[in-house]
Amino acid sequence: MADISTLEQDLIGAVDKAADEAGLEAVRVAALGKNGSVTGLLKTLGAMSPDERKTQGAAINALKDRVTGAINARKDTLKTAALDARLASETVDVTLPLRDTPAETGRIHPISQVIDELTAIFADMGFAIAEGPDVETDDYNFTKLNFPEGHPARDMHDTFYFPQKSDGSRMLLRTHTSPVQVRTMLAQKPPIRVICPGRTYRSDSDQTHTPMFHQVEGLVIDKSSHLGHLKWILEEFCKAFFEVNTVKMRFRPSFFPFTEPSLEVDIQCKRDKNEVRFGEGDDWMEILGCGMVHPNVLRNCGLDPDAVQGFAWGMGIDRIAMLKYGMPDLRPFFEADVRWLNHYGFRPLDFPTLAGGLSA
Ligand code: DAH
Repeated sequence: MADISTLEQDLIGAVDKAADEAGLEAVRVAALGKNGSVTGLLKTLGAMSPDERKTQGAAINALKDRVTGAINARKDTLKTAALDARLASETVDVTLPLRDTPAETGRIHPISQVIDELTAIFADMGFAIAEGPDVETDDYNFTKLNFPEGHPARDMHDTFYFPQKSDGSRMLLRTHTSPVQVRTMLAQKPPIRVICPGRTYRSDSDQTHTPMFHQVEGLVIDKSSHLGHLKWILEEFCKAFFEVNTVKMRFRPSFFPFTEPSLEVDIQCKRDKNEVRFGEGDDWMEILGCGMVHPNVLRNCGLDPDAVQGFAWGMGIDRIAMLKYGMPDLRPFFEADVRWLNHYGFRPLDFPTLAGGLSA
């Protein structure tokens, strides 16, 4: 009997000392677990005489009940204390103003915005989007586009080349989006109507050139597509993109190896100090190159120039973004300065559509 009451004192003392629920659980296991001290006492009952078992059994079970009761009472106390502490540490000041959500503070980069605008305009005219890799073969970037080996037009592209491979070929960072024309013609049968927006690279850097920039290519191949269609598409595009009712355009003869004839397009504008406005004035600004796809290019891409023909154009996305949104310098486009993005960026949920407005 003496050791029962000593054990009880020890156990109740340990229960009272348990500082948290984990400590209390350890006490419970030590007393009532499989190898616990109270469980150990219960195990001794089997070896006792019936009389002894009667008195000892009652005493040990009573001990077990009291210890269990003490543990449960302590558990309640600890739970309440833990809840009180948590409530005290997690007070909320309901008078604090709400923080803006990412959808309110985030900004869409002007390049992404302009790509979305272009896509909306050309998708409305029935164009699909085509894409190709930034790391391109010399063959697709130049040779199939009718730039013969050693042709001076290759040098004008300030190309970033990768090291030569063992077979003598070398990959490059595409210098224009025109190789996506090649990939499209090799993969699809006419009629083809695609635009190809993407990143392009040239070793060049100043206020209006960055080593990485963006272009959008357009390609139409059909039985009888001609320059008249091209002029209409470009005019409709410019009116929609610059959000003006009229644009005057000027087509000048030019040279690109992959088109014949080749043209460059200027749009009429008015220059006011740092600002450029379209649809008025008597200045001209060059915005793109275009032409009828050269028969050699069609042949290189597995098409028969006697059966199909078409036109293509290529335009600098950064440049038309600068023109539309009055940005004087190209370099901040690539500096990830949140102040610049706040100033020029667009709200994430204002997705441009022709019906709902492009930049409103
Ligand atoms: N690839 C040309 C460049 O980067 C732009 C261009 C001109 C693309 C005429 C065309 C085109 O598709 O027909 O300078």
